[in-house]
Amino acid sequence: MTISMNDEGFKQFRDFIYEKSGIFIPDNKKYFLENRLGRRVQEKNLKGYEDYLYNLKYDSDRRELQCLFDLITTNETFFFREPQQFDVFGGELLGRISAENTNSGRKDIKIWSAASSTGEEPYTLSMVLLEKPELSGFKKEIYASDISESVLASARAGIYGSYAIRNIPATYLKKYFTDSNQQYTLSPAVKSLVRFSKVNLIEERDVRMIRGVDIIFCRNVLIYFDDKAKQKVVSHLYDALRPGGYLFVGTSESLHNVTRAFRPVVINKVIIYQKV
Ligand SMILES: C[S@@+](CC[C@H](N)C(=O)[O-])C[C@H]1O[C@@H](n2cnc3c(N)ncnc32)[C@H](O)[C@@H]1O
Repeated sequence: MTISMNDEGFKQFRDFIYEKSGIFIPDNKKYFLENRLGRRVQEKNLKGYEDYLYNLKYDSDRRELQCLFDLITTNETFFFREPQQFDVFGGELLGRISAENTNSGRKDIKIWSAASSTGEEPYTLSMVLLEKPELSGFKKEIYASDISESVLASARAGIYGSYAIRNIPATYLKKYFTDSNQQYTLSPAVKSLVRFSKVNLIEERDVRMIRGVDIIFCRNVLIYFDDKAKQKVVSHLYDALRPGGYLFVGTSESLHNVTRAFRPVVINKVIIYQKV
């Protein structure tokens, strides 16, 4: 049974979530909060949403806030999602970046998957990198982060079901996974390039640790923010990139009307944003 939320309670909850995460829940989505949070109110034996909000506001160890993030985020993802972006990444873009870095005396490549969910995106990047023998002399680092601790825990485990792996080319699946009863376990080689941590993209103090990145993938998360939160998050991504670095957003997302600090670059019909 879902517990219903009154309009005032909805507004207070919605504003709290927005302030803490940038995630904007429109007026017509009260049912979304009722569906996602009702059970938690019952589990905690609280009288209603008002008490739950009070708990969250005065939650000294932020554990309940973490639980809220786990409940309200949408974590849909899969390997090789929007594959044309990975083609451009593994083709022209890595070629450019490795040449530029070599010219400036760097033998490394730094990539950030900024809303990595259960890990499929950064591990796809890792497999693409491992398929590049010409980069064998480069140190390859993939930072992967998300606001939700529960998705980060599954990402670190690196075990996937058939939905997540359905787009993986057969040769990659054979080479980088072991299959046991439709449970696909990722090889240590793929995992070894990726480091996971919790980063809330709206919090400047979280993003401050990440600097000098060559390429950022921040896909299918800007859609959950309003314009103001998008601007804030994109300015944090800008600060994390090295000059001339590249940003991928989801194919249904755009930086149009969000910022002029990036130059759109089109490679094989894929739009990438370059820090100017
Ligand atoms: C739909 S998934 C996208 C996963 C992957 N990037 C992809 O395109 O397949 C969106 C992810 O963004 C995360 N997210 C939402 N708000 C966030 C925030 N403020 N900071 C960091 N991550 C956030 C969610 O937890 C979720 O895992």
